[in-house]
Amino acid sequence: MQPNIVILGSFVVDLMGRAHHLPKPGETVKGSMFKLGPGGKGSNQGVAANRAGANVTMVTKIGNDLFGKVATDFFEKEGMDTSYVFQDKEIETGTALILVDENTSQNSILVTSGACGNIKNEEILKCEDKIKEAKVFLTQLETNLDAVEFAIDIAKKNNITTVLNPAPIQPISDELLSKIDIITPNEVEASILTGVEIKDMDDARKSADIFIEKGVTNVIITMGNQGAYVRCKDEERIIPRYNVDAIDTTGAGDAFNGGFVTALGEGKGIFEAAKFGNAVGALSVTKIGTAPAMPTRETINNFIIDNSTN
Ligand code: RIB
Ligand code: NA
Repeated sequence: MQPNIVILGSFVVDLMGRAHHLPKPGETVKGSMFKLGPGGKGSNQGVAANRAGANVTMVTKIGNDLFGKVATDFFEKEGMDTSYVFQDKEIETGTALILVDENTSQNSILVTSGACGNIKNEEILKCEDKIKEAKVFLTQLETNLDAVEFAIDIAKKNNITTVLNPAPIQPISDELLSKIDIITPNEVEASILTGVEIKDMDDARKSADIFIEKGVTNVIITMGNQGAYVRCKDEERIIPRYNVDAIDTTGAGDAFNGGFVTALGEGKGIFEAAKFGNAVGALSVTKIGTAPAMPTRETINNFIIDNSTN
């Protein structure tokens, strides 16, 4: 039942401060709270999928330092396999400086990939068998791009479903896009990658058309309050978001992706899997932090039941 999912992605330590507004250039703002914890889009998505019920192989890289130990301690506590958490001898573990505005719960992030920006092909080859056994291969753009491309090639050659969450945004080749079964940008990322400014669902459709022209099979554009635009061949649907009181939206996209691939791996269709992803995303914003805010399967199931009867 537990689907095997391989996630190649970042681990960084999140250094998060909250304040009543975000500082402008040159301004110093007094914060109300600071927290250090596990983060990075890849790892957040891995933790979300693991808690949602997937059997996750996390492929990432840390430094030989204190922040690297934050990773291994956390993965072990979560019961996740650390065999493919590689260690760089020279480069430190990555970090993310996160500022959260308490009033809007919006955030600004400066992420430095560090060791996870130096993943080698020979390290990816070590988990080739895991990729071959996977139901879904998921990656993002927070590690080095050559590693992403190399791993997607392996997944594609073996007919494994490839999911790319193109975050943080950077230019990617059409060749890479043509190997993606499902792309999951938010509206900003989709706008940049396709050149279509996205404000509403009609724009999302135009953007999805361009992804499909470039060879992507399915497109999911997450649009915050407007829900998710999901396009599968000629069929499109808007999967509404769940209403919750948001206190920290950092990592909501990661929660969505982790939940989505778990449901997909379990055999759910793309629309249903996106709905499940929305539930995981919604629950994650009700808690402070990124990876530690990811919900368990029990919480997700109860939430979906509670929200379907209302
Ligand atoms: O998506 C949220 C994540 O992005 C944070 O955990 C931070 O590490 C940044 O990389
Ligand atoms: Na959160």
